[in-house]
Amino acid sequence: MKKYKHNAFNKFIEDMHVHFAKGLPEVKHWEGVRPILKCLILDQEFINTSKSWERKKGREYILHHDPQYDFFVGGLVREPKHVAMAHDHGPTWTVYGVLFGQEVTHVYERLDDGSKTGHAELKLKIKSEAPAGTVDIVPPHIPHAENGNSPRSVAITVRTTKPGSYDQVMFDLKTGKTGISRGLELVPLEV
Ligand SMILES: [Fe+2]
Repeated sequence: MKKYKHNAFNKFIEDMHVHFAKGLPEVKHWEGVRPILKCLILDQEFINTSKSWERKKGREYILHHDPQYDFFVGGLVREPKHVAMAHDHGPTWTVYGVLFGQEVTHVYERLDDGSKTGHAELKLKIKSEAPAGTVDIVPPHIPHAENGNSPRSVAITVRTTKPGSYDQVMFDLKTGKTGISRGLELVPLEV
């Protein structure tokens, strides 16, 4: 298995392998990733390292793409006042942990039946503070937005697979228009 510089990250990957090997039903499986990611984002050495990661809008760092189970671990470094467009992650699951700083998570409910192509009506369902140490789970096709709420914030994503291989829907809340995206620019980063 690939070895990383950080003990906490090596342990995280090992724990993920043990968890994936259980072959739990989908919902239980992804809920089970939460405490594993929580353990990683509370590691002070890992938090300190993230302070040197370059902040750039539209970028997601590739920390790990698993050769055995295909799960993807990414890093997002948010700019001050970062406002994300509402979007979904297509058919994939995401477990999202805030490593540093403060974020605010919005989850939307879709009011229309999806019959009108390129259009969606969304209603805000949940708005929650997400300080460092928070882990949220985003199931497939759920519209949401993770916004920055501090000068710098860093989040770790654990996804079903590497982004870019599936369509994500982008939602314009003002006009109701929707579009398709293939995710952010992926940049490898050593951890
Ligand atoms: Fe997202």
